[in-house]
Amino acid sequence: MKNIFRLSCTTLAIVWVAGLYSVGRTTSGPAEAPAGFDTGTNGFVDQPTLDQDRATFEERDDVAKGLGPVYNAQSCAECHGNPVTGGISQVVELRAGHFNGTVFVNPPGGSLINDRATDAAIQERVPAGNEVRTFRTSLNTLGDGFVEAIDDATLIAIASSQPSFMRGRAIHVPVLEMPGAMRVGRFGWKSQQASLLSFASDAYLNEQGITNQFNLAENTSLGRFVGFGSGFDPVPDTAPFGEDADGDIFLFAEFMRSTKVPPRDTALAATPAAQAGSQLFDAIGCSTCHVRTIVTAPAGTTINGGAFVVPPALGDTVIHPFGDFLLHNVGTGDGIVQNGGQSTRNEMRTPPLWGLRTRDRLMHDGQSLTRTDAILRHGGQAIGSTLQFLFVSSTQRNQLLAFLDSL
Ligand code: HEC
Ligand code: HEC
Repeated sequence: MKNIFRLSCTTLAIVWVAGLYSVGRTTSGPAEAPAGFDTGTNGFVDQPTLDQDRATFEERDDVAKGLGPVYNAQSCAECHGNPVTGGISQVVELRAGHFNGTVFVNPPGGSLINDRATDAAIQERVPAGNEVRTFRTSLNTLGDGFVEAIDDATLIAIASSQPSFMRGRAIHVPVLEMPGAMRVGRFGWKSQQASLLSFASDAYLNEQGITNQFNLAENTSLGRFVGFGSGFDPVPDTAPFGEDADGDIFLFAEFMRSTKVPPRDTALAATPAAQAGSQLFDAIGCSTCHVRTIVTAPAGTTINGGAFVVPPALGDTVIHPFGDFLLHNVGTGDGIVQNGGQSTRNEMRTPPLWGLRTRDRLMHDGQSLTRTDAILRHGGQAIGSTLQFLFVSSTQRNQLLAFLDSL
């Protein structure tokens, strides 16, 4: 017993010294990601290219371009725009389904209930018998190129480092642009996508009703075919590009890969209250899931099943997402199953808290209107943190909130 203990102390010491060494390395260590709520490029593409890509992300599509026939909004920026294009918004989506006692069952056509239709006759509404219902708030996409550039192994190592009763789950999801390839999911409230090109393809179909290279089948209206030939949709979904003849999905992905990460409010972060709150955030276990610092894969690493090579602008970079991108059961699960299988029904992704100060409706459903409410809703794997939040003094709670205000 004693020998084992001594051995692990030695190991710890080596790790500690190695850690000191890497902290001390100032010349060749990974760089901090460029941060800013501005329209400047992170260096992945040049500024004029980013400006063009942003214009595509902001472009409003109409019926002639393939909009709908069932859809949610006319442009990416309609739901991703606060405080600048690519950020969040108050727009929510509606999902529904049925739990039959054993498994979650989609309504005809899938759990997403599109809020708009180009013809009133095909408007989707939650069908009877679908008692599982939830809203999903829009998420920030700024800085997501860095998130995409995180190695699978890094996310799996974060899960392994978490105590078993708080351990997050990495799920492997399909990479649409590389048929057969799987990668650790990290985007969306259920970590349902791993690649920004896959997410762009999925969003173009599901948010705007525009078929594209990796999603050629038009959405139904609750199972009823409303695509080309039905009389509701004038644009054919012919391979290889469907309704996306211009290849906009590639420009959406390029836009998101070129944006800077959400910046801290440095003046607020420097206040003694926020600094004390920052320490408390670690001390009461928030940062076990809302992970402070992650380093992206080295430039040159092949990701997304071989479809993308991490460029110098996104590789070897330090980010502070305050999230682990893993699925957890914190007692708030919405009962919907997407890419993770039935066991993920009541799990949600730890959302990154970078840019939190731009959000006024919190949690996946937007139903928590203050930070304190959001924290108090954490049960399950986060119950230990929540209890500690309740047990600290009100001064300390305010310090934690001051810290959150700086994110
Ligand atoms: C109607 C509003 C709406 C529109 C339009 C929309 N989105 Fe979203 N977006 C959302 C919502 C809501 C989520 C969270 C979805 C979820 O996980 O349930 C999201 C999530 C995302 C994410 C994941 C971000 C992350 O870090 O996890 C990406 C990437 C994204 N959207 C890209 C796009 C692109 C590209 C377009 C345009 C083709 C688009 N979105 C159009 C509402 C919208
Ligand atoms: C066991 C992992 C875990 C721990 C510990 C944890 N969280 Fe969370 N946090 C989550 C998950 C998962 C969600 C998303 C839940 C949902 O939307 O239903 C979340 C959501 C949030 C949100 C809402 C973010 C948004 O954009 O809507 C805030 C704020 C937050 N957590 C702060 C905290 C604070 C502060 C602590 C410590 C007191 C904490 N969390 C501890 C996993 C955790």
